[in-house]
Amino acid sequence: EDKPRVEALLQAMTLEEKIGQLTMLDAGGVTTGSGRASDLNTSVRAGRAGSLLNLVDPVQIRAMQRIAIQESRLRIPLLFGLDVVHGHHTTFPIPLAEAAAFDPDLWRRTAEAAAAEAAADGINLTFAPMLDIARDPRWGRIAESPGEDVLVARRFAQAKVNGFQGRNPAAPGSLAATAKHLAAYGAVAAGREYAPVDISERLLHEVYLPPFHEAVRAGVAVIMPAFTDLAGVPMSANVTVLRDLVRQQWGFDGVFVSDYSAIQELINHGVAEDLAAAAALALRAGIDIDMMGGAYEHGLSIALKRGAARIEDVDAAVGRVLALKARLGLFHAPDKGDTFKATDPHLRQMNRSLARDAARRSIVLLKNERSLLPLDPEMKRIALIGPLINARSDMLGPWSALGDPEHAATVLDGLRSALPIAQITAIEAMDIEGQDREGIRAAVDAAAAADAVVLCLGEDRSMSGEASSRAHMDLPGRQRDLAEAILVLRKPVIAVIMSGRPLVIGWLVERADAVIAAGFLGHEAGHALADVITGHWNPSGRLPVSWPHAVGQIPIFYAQRPTGRPRDPENHFTSKYLDMPNDPLFRFGDGLSYTSFAIAALRANATTLGPKDEIVVDVEVRNEGSREGEETIFLFIHDPVASVSRPILELKDFAKIELAAGETGTVRLRVAVEDLKHLDADLRPVLEAGVVEVLIGPSADRARLHQITVEIVAEAPIS
Ligand code: IFM
Repeated sequence: EDKPRVEALLQAMTLEEKIGQLTMLDAGGVTTGSGRASDLNTSVRAGRAGSLLNLVDPVQIRAMQRIAIQESRLRIPLLFGLDVVHGHHTTFPIPLAEAAAFDPDLWRRTAEAAAAEAAADGINLTFAPMLDIARDPRWGRIAESPGEDVLVARRFAQAKVNGFQGRNPAAPGSLAATAKHLAAYGAVAAGREYAPVDISERLLHEVYLPPFHEAVRAGVAVIMPAFTDLAGVPMSANVTVLRDLVRQQWGFDGVFVSDYSAIQELINHGVAEDLAAAAALALRAGIDIDMMGGAYEHGLSIALKRGAARIEDVDAAVGRVLALKARLGLFHAPDKGDTFKATDPHLRQMNRSLARDAARRSIVLLKNERSLLPLDPEMKRIALIGPLINARSDMLGPWSALGDPEHAATVLDGLRSALPIAQITAIEAMDIEGQDREGIRAAVDAAAAADAVVLCLGEDRSMSGEASSRAHMDLPGRQRDLAEAILVLRKPVIAVIMSGRPLVIGWLVERADAVIAAGFLGHEAGHALADVITGHWNPSGRLPVSWPHAVGQIPIFYAQRPTGRPRDPENHFTSKYLDMPNDPLFRFGDGLSYTSFAIAALRANATTLGPKDEIVVDVEVRNEGSREGEETIFLFIHDPVASVSRPILELKDFAKIELAAGETGTVRLRVAVEDLKHLDADLRPVLEAGVVEVLIGPSADRARLHQITVEIVAEAPIS
């Protein structure tokens, strides 16, 4: 119904107003007080900005929107964008941690809650979800990603887009979502932020693109191309991926927004000589909105004069931006329903309990020797040691939007409230950089006098996220010295690792009795960790990413292709390192529970299937321990003989089941035979006839997987 309005506006607009709609300005200075609102007001009034990012105060947002709809010539409402990644006021676990829950419904609900809070403040566009597959933990943005696996990232994409956008992004409480960063940003060379990307076409199409395709299928409103290049072609100018594949083949009719000054950076990439050339390249690839950098603002009209850009492409981009504003309902109700009211404290309260549930489900128990956890209530003297025991803002992790660190629960808060009569001695010992607080001596004294030690170690929140690659992935500062000084006391030690990435901590895992991977869990981190430590919650998280023994193993992920010379200790000339195992320290899917589960039986619907069929496997799972718990069951496939070499395992389905002590239940896992297609040597999708191994179990550890085989009958190849 807004089509005629969009057409009429396009007819009425000057070139400057059109370019204004394609320009997103950063209002962060107004938010922090370092910039002048009057400059921004002038741009908005003159129609020189169609969208703003980083304006967060509902009063300022409303004032700015009023200028746009009452004082600009064409009265076109503004879009307000912000990185609402894992919460807005209420902070949920970072994506890498939340992925460990393997729970799409949870992923959807936390996005929905974040959208409700942000929309109430007047935000209408989030730059999330981040869908970059990450197989290199040196790259700091792994913290924002759902991990190493394609299927997990696809389900994450669907859940997050549905959560942020709801059924209709125009409905109160919903936002337009942005699938970012298209594509293969996670494959930057050597894990160094913004570095070049050079991967095979197979990897691009089989691994890095499918999560974006899923987001498009789910109706994502916006896509952000990556800062990086792809084999020499920067994504901000990548016609093949943006225009030919995503727009034309996938049918994406939403908006492409550039990353921050990424169009201008085409000059640094060495493909444009000036802003006008950069603007022309980005417009040709189909980027509609230029986020800062001024390439469209200052370069597009020159590019048009030079004949390097076409006005038809400008009009098409403006049309898509106006269509997005229409899709968000902004022409009818720029302050729709709940907008600009500022988040209701009651809503925030409700979201706190969701935050606790999400945080508990995101915790992965990696080691629990002699069942040290849950902690015996008789252990009343607890030494809580390490730089992260009371680091309030670090609990929130990177990209925590408006999450207020003051309201974050630390492990100290959590244990004090869960164990009111325990004697908890809290010693930070040092800060994360290694500067002494109470010092190692004080920590050793506290540990020596305790029944058990909880060591909170890891990274601070600035050590992951954008522009935060690390070449050493060990514990920063002098945390190893601290841990070693405690470990020699031979007290029961629980190591809680908080970080935005897997860390290289084999030495600690070997010597601590219990190890918990916590990521950054958000506002309820401390309570959730206390729930696990005391046994109020039985941990069920599983690693969505492999943890290496050493940086030298990177990139490391479970879905490797086989080698012609598999490792053989008897044969020197096989695929191995001389100085470490091939396997990671922890695998994809690893994670313990306070109970134990076994697969009692497997039933497949058929042993021979055609191209239109579905493999359906009923898995009987028994809780063999003495308390209730949740188990995750994975279904992998392996095609042992195909026209091209296929990964040793590929995840095709996963599901969770909750079982009481002694209970047996059934999980149903399914794979459409269509989903067994792969790319042949010419990169065409084919389904090949033959035997396929179906491997089912609790992690990517082949030794723990139950195998059945099915035969695919088809006239091969079927494309
Ligand atoms: O959305 C982000 C992006 O992920 C990295 N650069 C800045 C953008 C806007 O904040």
